[in-house]
Amino acid sequence: MNKPKDLPLTAIDADDIGHNNSSNTDFSEILNARISRRNMLRGGAVSAASALFGSIGLSACGGGSDVVSSTPAPATPALPAEKLLGFTAVGKSLADSVVVPAGYTASVIYALGDPLAAATPAYNNDGSDTDFENRAGDHHDGMEWFGLGADGKPSAISVDRGLLGMNHEATTDETLSSLFLHANGGTTTLPRPVVETDKEVAIHGVSFVEVRKAAGKWEYVKGSDFNRRITPLTEIDFAGVARGNPLLVTKYSATGTKTRGTINNCGTGKTPWGTLLTGEENFNGYFARNAGDIANRGGDTAKGNVSLRRYGADPRAQSGKTAANAYSSRHGWETAGADDKYARWNISQIGAASTDDYRNELNTFGYIVEIDAYDKTKLAKKRTGLGRFAHESAAFCVPAEGKPLAVYMGDDARGEYIYKWVSTVNWTAADANPADRMVTGDKYLDNGKLYVAKFDADGTGQWLELSITNPAIAGYATYAFADQGDVVVNARLAADAAGATKMDRPEWCSVNPANGEIYYALTNNTSRRVEPSSSSQFAPDSANPRVYTDIKGTSTTQQGNPNGHILRLKEAAAGSAATSFTWDVYLFGAESIADTGKINLSSLTSDQDFSSPDGLVFSKSTGICWFQTDDGAYTDVTNCMMLAGLPGQVGDGAKKTLSYTKGDGSQLNVDTYVGKAPTADTLKRFLVGPKACEITGLCETPDGKAIFVNIQHPGETTKTADVGDPTKYTSKWPSNAGYGLGQRPRSATIVITKNDGGRIGS
Ligand code: FEO
Ligand code: CA
Ligand code: CA
Ligand code: CA
Repeated sequence: MNKPKDLPLTAIDADDIGHNNSSNTDFSEILNARISRRNMLRGGAVSAASALFGSIGLSACGGGSDVVSSTPAPATPALPAEKLLGFTAVGKSLADSVVVPAGYTASVIYALGDPLAAATPAYNNDGSDTDFENRAGDHHDGMEWFGLGADGKPSAISVDRGLLGMNHEATTDETLSSLFLHANGGTTTLPRPVVETDKEVAIHGVSFVEVRKAAGKWEYVKGSDFNRRITPLTEIDFAGVARGNPLLVTKYSATGTKTRGTINNCGTGKTPWGTLLTGEENFNGYFARNAGDIANRGGDTAKGNVSLRRYGADPRAQSGKTAANAYSSRHGWETAGADDKYARWNISQIGAASTDDYRNELNTFGYIVEIDAYDKTKLAKKRTGLGRFAHESAAFCVPAEGKPLAVYMGDDARGEYIYKWVSTVNWTAADANPADRMVTGDKYLDNGKLYVAKFDADGTGQWLELSITNPAIAGYATYAFADQGDVVVNARLAADAAGATKMDRPEWCSVNPANGEIYYALTNNTSRRVEPSSSSQFAPDSANPRVYTDIKGTSTTQQGNPNGHILRLKEAAAGSAATSFTWDVYLFGAESIADTGKINLSSLTSDQDFSSPDGLVFSKSTGICWFQTDDGAYTDVTNCMMLAGLPGQVGDGAKKTLSYTKGDGSQLNVDTYVGKAPTADTLKRFLVGPKACEITGLCETPDGKAIFVNIQHPGETTKTADVGDPTKYTSKWPSNAGYGLGQRPRSATIVITKNDGGRIGS
């Protein structure tokens, strides 16, 4: 989520802020690695290098002179018979509407506040509504499809009835309050009223809603027995290696085995056994610390403070504050009253022991959470082994009988990392339809290894295991890990110790079903600099190679990598369990008019140009790579959008060296690997959203003939003081599309169908 830049810091989402001040790979190290390898080649070690790179399939990477290859490129996967991307590309748009290609229809079916329970009244959309535990939450985000047969049982083939499992990431705020949720825009000073706080808490979390096609038209089913909300107050179990760890002990759970709720749910995933995975992203922003809490916990080098600082919960991350100041929360919920459900948002050390307060509460968020979409009686589980960080999506490898399952994940903040989980147990197809889905989750998601990615300048990379037995982690001077539970709870610190590569904000990842390659949206990083001047800036490296200046409007300059890129990885021969990979950049975001030598490296045309990729989902039906933007850089020209790509494979392009001139006149050369430039037949803009929104989340019916997409926070730039005057709303969608009461903008799910009944994207 990109927030306007003029907000007070307490109101800014933390995903645009970096907290990674570790000394991991900067450009000089990559440069040295590259030089030393060249020296090795010059020195006659070519055969050794050839053997190495041949064995890990480097043939796909590059075409540069120092690439040694003996492996033929794999065949391009066969496409379905119909012409995919046969539609006419949609132009960039600043209209307050959803634009899709001719021949397609987009319909709103499920918006903020829509009643889930039969007894809950229709949404007035004027700030008077209550009972949000039985309504759609706000800021619709990641979303997955769970088919239902006519018998009401789970179905892998149903195309006209199913459940949508959906994240409700956040709410539209300017200062403290959720401005569209309250009659007058809400209270923008502390303390926050109980009534406002209770509504704001309840619109976070996850919803499950039944949808069906009746008489040719999709609708959601009010009163369905399957409809369900998970909120930040719903009881959730811990599972995996950190369950019961002292770091998870709170006043709520003296055994460290459970917590309440999930928050800032961003990307999603769907397990091969049919459950929902939801990622907890900017959780740190919801909590507060009292003034003096750093000193109270033993000062800057105390473990608890090191951890809180690395996860962004430090007053110095907020403008103008010192270590002695309080750390402020986004909404001030901790001030609503003495009740435990408000007190838990203050993570200060107050009592004598961790069972007396919520000093550890921040450790209970930041996980991949598994939920059984079909069974309300099953408690959700936080899968701690998959690490604690600002999670986006969780993408499974293509399951292979007798091979481990891999789950790919990203940590969305500036300079954070890319991760992989590998199950100990090998996949068996018999588990695709298990008697107990959550027990199957225990099997594959509680025992395994967590890895973090290191990208090298030669187009290869390594998965570094985050294990307490790794000497770099066990002996890390910054933070003394107690056990493997500590390693996963403080995965960012372990990844620092292991030497991971700092990325340009990893958002969604998805696996290409045609060849198993893994795609990561790296949304942007405005802190890349040729010569970093502080620990919060990052030098360019091969996997994050661009530093440039973009102009927004007539005068605003945006530096670093404001438009983002999409990286892709190909695992070495061991597949899901591989510890090395090759990589390249599928696409670089850019304006079509930008310099194709330095910025628009993928030569995007005006039908293809985009900025800040975020959502990214491969269709299992068509193989189309759908990606979506959450942008603040190109929004002077266009609202956020969704594009359809038919990508090739890692290594189908060429090596490119980007040269930067430093202040002293010397050159900084960065090698990168640019995927084959798209053509008019392989990349097209498919959708542009209404004003001040983000496009996110995508799922489809198994026949590919209906896709569901979320429009998040239309009109998010509206000011709290203007809530009483609809003429000042920066968007009136979806009421201006004929959906619902009132004129306040609402996050909503749309369904897209093709008028001739064909598959979406054809
Ligand atoms: Fe919730 Fe990183 O987007
Ligand atoms: Ca957003
Ligand atoms: Ca621009
Ligand atoms: Ca996102």
